[in-house]
Amino acid sequence: MRILVTGGAGFIGSNFIYYMLKKYPNYRIVCLDKLTYAGNLSTLRKAMEFENFKFIKGDIADRDLVYDLFEKEKFDIVINFAAESHVDRSIEEPEIFLKTNVIGTQVLMDASRKFGVKRFHQVSTDEVYGDLPLDRPDLKFKEDDKLRPSSPYSASKAAADLLVLAYYRTYKLPVTISRCSNNYGPYQFPEKLIPLMIINAMNDKELPVYGTGHNIRDWIYVTDHCEAIDLIIHKGREGEIYNIGGNCEKRNIEVVKTILKELRKPESLIKFVKDRPGHDLRYALDTSKIEKELGWKPKVKFDEGIKKTIKWYQTNKEWWEKIISGEYMEYYERMYGKR
Ligand code: NAD
Ligand code: TYD
Repeated sequence: MRILVTGGAGFIGSNFIYYMLKKYPNYRIVCLDKLTYAGNLSTLRKAMEFENFKFIKGDIADRDLVYDLFEKEKFDIVINFAAESHVDRSIEEPEIFLKTNVIGTQVLMDASRKFGVKRFHQVSTDEVYGDLPLDRPDLKFKEDDKLRPSSPYSASKAAADLLVLAYYRTYKLPVTISRCSNNYGPYQFPEKLIPLMIINAMNDKELPVYGTGHNIRDWIYVTDHCEAIDLIIHKGREGEIYNIGGNCEKRNIEVVKTILKELRKPESLIKFVKDRPGHDLRYALDTSKIEKELGWKPKVKFDEGIKKTIKWYQTNKEWWEKIISGEYMEYYERMYGKR
């Protein structure tokens, strides 16, 4: 099998590459990544040692580059992780989200059609459904629910999902889509809740909690997401959408307090700051489809996953210390300086 992983220098894509290299030593894996602020080549250092792995720097929206690559590599499967992925950045500057997340997806699908790819898999998010109220724990999103995205990020992902389904219906491109809840684990860029709180707590810096901290996210350890995608690309039905969730809903404040407790740091580090505009209240997914059809279930419990994640950030300081200098510090000042 010849597989293209886009966005593989980012958080989930890199974890997926390591998962696949270990599980399928006979597959050829090519990573195409633009290396934006969120992509880091040092993340793939160990992957570079595998002969069946190749890294290409490039933009998924660059049609000439993408067509050349597809012609050369003759991919069987394309998995599109590449995206602008952070809600707060999409509120500041939406345009690049449309270019990468929508146009980039279209270019990859055009190439997949032209060069006869057998499966195009789109990595999407639970955020396309919008949010749920905090006082209705009985409600969970199902795959055929209406799309009601709230942020420019989630709207761009919803637009891409619709385009993927249109390419299935119109051109019979063999597609699948997965919509996953909030991931955590190694190599996550420290602008996202869990790594940001771990690193700030380790550095005795304030922990900026938006609003009251009562918003709820469903957390999944990243390797459980990788395993679900592996099942979908091999056994999932064409044209289908699969929800992937950790079945682990937590209020943000609970997550932050758990991190402080694990690191033996005081709760006085918590600072409640101005809320995110349009802040989604709660995400929760009904995952019965993937459980019944593909026999998938998340394996890593939150208690275990958060301990592993904290340990990883403690033992891989050189990875994130490089990242939190430069552009990240400017972003941090812009985002949190006057909040
Ligand atoms: P990330 O921001 O860590 O990584 C994104 C990667 O894409 C980076 O390596 C970046 O350099 C690359 N990239 C960005 N624009 C590109 C372009 N134009 N061409 C090529 N490469 C480009 O993101 P992540 O958290 O790993 O998310 C990966 C995917 O999973 C995204 O599609 C995201 O929407 C989806 N997702 C993420 C979560 C989550 O909790 N992180 C949950 C559900 C779905
Ligand atoms: P985030 O990791 O940005 O993921 P998403 O918005 O895609 O779910 O945020 C997770 C939750 O944590 C979200 O409710 C916003 C909140 N949050 C904070 O309270 N403080 C922060 O500094 C960040 C980055 C997020």
